[in-house]
Amino acid sequence: MQYLVTGGCGFIGSHLVDKLLADGHSVLVLDDLSTGSLDNLNPEAEFVRGCITDQAAVDAAMRNVDGVFHLAAIASVARSNEEWSWTHKVNLTGFVHVADAARARKCPVVYASSAAIYGDNCALPLSETDEPRPMTAYGADKLGCELHGRVGALIHGIPTTGLRFFNVYGPRQDPKSPYSGVISIFADRVMRGEPLKVFGDGHQTRDFVYVGDVVRCLDAAMQTPVRGARVFNVCTGRATSIRELAHLVMMAAGREVAVRYLEARAGDIHASIGDPRRLRSAFGFKPETSVGTGLMQLLSSLGVGEKAA
Ligand SMILES: NC(=O)c1ccc[n+]([C@@H]2O[C@H](COP(=O)([O-])OP(=O)(O)OC[C@H]3O[C@@H](n4cnc5c(N)ncnc54)[C@H](O)[C@@H]3O)[C@@H](O)[C@H]2O)c1
Repeated sequence: MQYLVTGGCGFIGSHLVDKLLADGHSVLVLDDLSTGSLDNLNPEAEFVRGCITDQAAVDAAMRNVDGVFHLAAIASVARSNEEWSWTHKVNLTGFVHVADAARARKCPVVYASSAAIYGDNCALPLSETDEPRPMTAYGADKLGCELHGRVGALIHGIPTTGLRFFNVYGPRQDPKSPYSGVISIFADRVMRGEPLKVFGDGHQTRDFVYVGDVVRCLDAAMQTPVRGARVFNVCTGRATSIRELAHLVMMAAGREVAVRYLEARAGDIHASIGDPRRLRSAFGFKPETSVGTGLMQLLSSLGVGEKAA
């Protein structure tokens, strides 16, 4: 099969490209390299530099594909609030461009949604039937993608699958970005012997899902397309507190650093745990990699795990 991966030079997209190529597919990547890097990209993939806000570039990239994985987005919540209009163009209009380009061939669209669509909904665990209550421009646009995914299926007959990723971590997540996930920041700081900063008391919990599991879910969603629109949580259903995480990162690295507790950040949600049952019943599996195992893989990719082993 020939697949398009938008955002294929980024953290999650580059792992997906590796899997698709290993499975014998042809892969075209459309990426503007705004946060992604060619260093992440498998040399066997075909690459086009372009922006998903450019409908002509998206149409050209979609011309011969059997399916599209749409991952390109401005993945920073803080940036989405600061640069509201521009992130809206990338994160929602970009999705509509991709879905519009899929109309002609009715090829499946598998796209990244986010747990951010739940916002301040405090249900534990969060299931797909719980009310979306986004609190950020990023969450609102991801919910908008799901609504347009529904329209694409109803009006244009395009099979669409939205995957609500929870907190994804693993190799190639850029720790230098101030918006990066807590795991890559902790791993980077432990490696450099610097203290870990925890906002609040550290008892807040998250559902951390390993990138290898996320890629399996993306692939399963493409291999089992259905008529219509569907959305799934991509999560483990397990809670890890930030305190616990700090401890696990130090254990995995075999190094201890100080942990500093700072004032809680406004709007920080106390607990965010997903319910993976819908995903498991559709695909026959759910993300299983434990945080301990995933951390060992991340740290060994950084050259640290070997020392701990
Ligand atoms: N990492 C997470 O924990 C997480 C959680 C929920 C959802 N997501 C979603 O998953 C997807 C991938 O996220 P990631 O963590 O790999 O982020 P990333 O920043 O590493 O990857 C995004 C990629 O999209 C590209 N891109 C950005 N704007 C573009 C544009 N206008 N045109 C073309 N390419 C563009 C970037 O250069 C980058 O290669 C995103 O849609 C993100 O919103 C990620």
